[in-house]
Amino acid sequence: MQTFYVTTPIYYVNSLPHLGHLYTMIVADTVARRTRQQGIKTFFLTGTDEHGIAIERAAERNHRTPQEQADYVVGYYKKMTDAFGLDTAHGGYDIFMRTTEPFHYAGEREFWRRLAKAKTPKGREALYKGHYEGWFCAPCAAYKTEDEYAQPANADEPPTCLIHETKLDRVSEESYFFRLSDYDEALLGLYESRPDFVQPEARRNEVRSFVRGGLQDLSLSRVNTSVSWGVPVPGDPLHTMYVWFDALTNYITAIGFGNEQQQRAVGFDKFWPALHLVGKDILRFHAVYWPAFLMAAGVEQPRAIVAHGMWVDPDGRKMSKTLGNTIELDVLNKYFSVDAIRYFCLREMVFGQDGRFGYEALIERANSDLASGLGNLSSRTLTMIQRYREGRVPPANISEAARLSAKRAGVDSDAAAIASVVEHARDEFIRHFDNFSFSRALEEAWAIVAHVDKMISDAKPWGLAKDEDQKETLNAVLYRAAEALRWLCVLLYPVMPTSTSGIYQQLGLDGDPARLDSARLKWGELPEGTQIGEVKPLFPRIDKAKTMEEITSQKSEAAETQPSGRVPSSPEPATEDEAVAGLANYIDITDFVKVELRVGEVLTAERIPKADKLLLITVDIGEEKARQILAGIAQYYEPEKLVGRKIVVVANLKPRKLRGYESQGMLLAASVGEEGRPVIATFAEDVPNGARLK
Ligand code: MSP
Repeated sequence: MQTFYVTTPIYYVNSLPHLGHLYTMIVADTVARRTRQQGIKTFFLTGTDEHGIAIERAAERNHRTPQEQADYVVGYYKKMTDAFGLDTAHGGYDIFMRTTEPFHYAGEREFWRRLAKAKTPKGREALYKGHYEGWFCAPCAAYKTEDEYAQPANADEPPTCLIHETKLDRVSEESYFFRLSDYDEALLGLYESRPDFVQPEARRNEVRSFVRGGLQDLSLSRVNTSVSWGVPVPGDPLHTMYVWFDALTNYITAIGFGNEQQQRAVGFDKFWPALHLVGKDILRFHAVYWPAFLMAAGVEQPRAIVAHGMWVDPDGRKMSKTLGNTIELDVLNKYFSVDAIRYFCLREMVFGQDGRFGYEALIERANSDLASGLGNLSSRTLTMIQRYREGRVPPANISEAARLSAKRAGVDSDAAAIASVVEHARDEFIRHFDNFSFSRALEEAWAIVAHVDKMISDAKPWGLAKDEDQKETLNAVLYRAAEALRWLCVLLYPVMPTSTSGIYQQLGLDGDPARLDSARLKWGELPEGTQIGEVKPLFPRIDKAKTMEEITSQKSEAAETQPSGRVPSSPEPATEDEAVAGLANYIDITDFVKVELRVGEVLTAERIPKADKLLLITVDIGEEKARQILAGIAQYYEPEKLVGRKIVVVANLKPRKLRGYESQGMLLAASVGEEGRPVIATFAEDVPNGARLK
């Protein structure tokens, strides 16, 4: 049986996803639905990348353990993939992969062992132990070369990452290295022999020139005192595997490489090699490092690596939390149908190039292409069949005797012309689709919509209906429109699964477009006499002014709740919780009184070993026993200086364990500036311990 394996990148769990993350999933889901339509056994992977220093830091910032942080973000992903119809229950992904899965540890360690035994194409050992010193960016989880960071104004300060604009860490430590420098010729040979290996063409050229420029060996581990949240190196547990090594191997461990569990459940031999869909920003990891690792381990190369562009805002700026211009999934989900979002993403972005995402543009497309375009074609066709033919699909053919009348009405008595238009559009649709040119493919489908619309307007069925001589002409027009609609349902199913299935049902057809291959469609197979179903509008028109006003006012409320007046740059817990619940809305007084805020006095404060951000404090909040609280303020407050200070404590927060200590509440602090510097809330006047804030 033919099989197919498609993957998205696995997403970091240091922050909640936005449209940029959703996009690759939509593309992968669309591709997977089409291969499933073709009867190809398909496996679609998405998931999360849960290890590394950036996750550890985010967890600390949010007063969670790394595992809690990962679980929290994964919970949000699961909720969103359900809402957007991308999960298994909706016919979407087959696995939500997590790098904290024990089977992944097993498979990854096996992959490492293979590398440890391997020789490079130049006959040297692929892995060796050495010393690494360099500038490391935690959010990127990568060492940075000179052209990837900005030199500081002051020579004593570290440089800053050009992507994240955060300070880099100087890292000098023992490390395992992968001898990537020995793989340049082998990689260039691979790109040469398989021109489709990296797509699109422009990206392939980029990768080739990067490799031609010379490759440096790659540090593949960190000592576990600097990064402990990760998978230990086999035979040397003092080292943690580099997070990109960890992440890339997920693609094979998920289907059974090096572990029995997934081998039995999925089957490595059955599904590998994969088609990897990635954003262009992470192409190098996939098109250079990953193929080199696979060569060393003796594993077959991926089917292809296909890179898409970035979503930017209407002003052309990259979507980022720092700029506060991300398209939030909660907002999308609240105001737009899943199919409208899918359609917009695939229609608006020319695959491979950057695309602009604005709510206004989304509304305009939903109204013009969907409500007035496909939706209108569908409802007018079905309504006319109901009105003029008692809800039954009429016969397609025009008899000899009726040909002259048809000709007078401007309708071709032979359906060959329309059949050839639709077949041609279908072939072009498939050609572009299989080339990842979704935008062009959709244009072809809309050429069918335009053609049939014109046929109806020219033939004027409402006039034909009044003329008994034109009975067959009207039959033919209605049949052709309904048949074209059937084709559109099958063609467009991968892009808009819900609404095309809806139209298919309204056409009264039994089958499921999820299982019909558009390449096999034959004109005229819509059975005459089919009783159509109830006609319901599938693409409601969106009131642009009203929707924009609501979205804009929601966004500004959210921004005002931030101390810096901007949408936050880092996922502080309050912000994440807000995002989960839907963006900031007014709360009721009954909501506020649920939070028990009390005055407390700090009795003791001390640092915690190996946690450079946390302080362990005990606070008297007027209860018999002092409370123990962990606070992420160690970088900004000397413990000694806190003793005796009056603070505000959230007293009814569920206790939880961090670093082995129970935290029995939370102290309140303002979050200041881009870095979210905490400033503890306090009182100018004397207040007794335990007094409640109201
Ligand atoms: N964890 C790594 C990937 C490891 S894969 C073995 C990672 N994660 S990420 O969460 O930062 O990004 C995941 C994907 O989201 C990337 O493909 C990235 O290109 C994509 N996007 C993030 N922002 C985006 C836009 N604004 N537009 C389009 N895609 C973008 O990198």
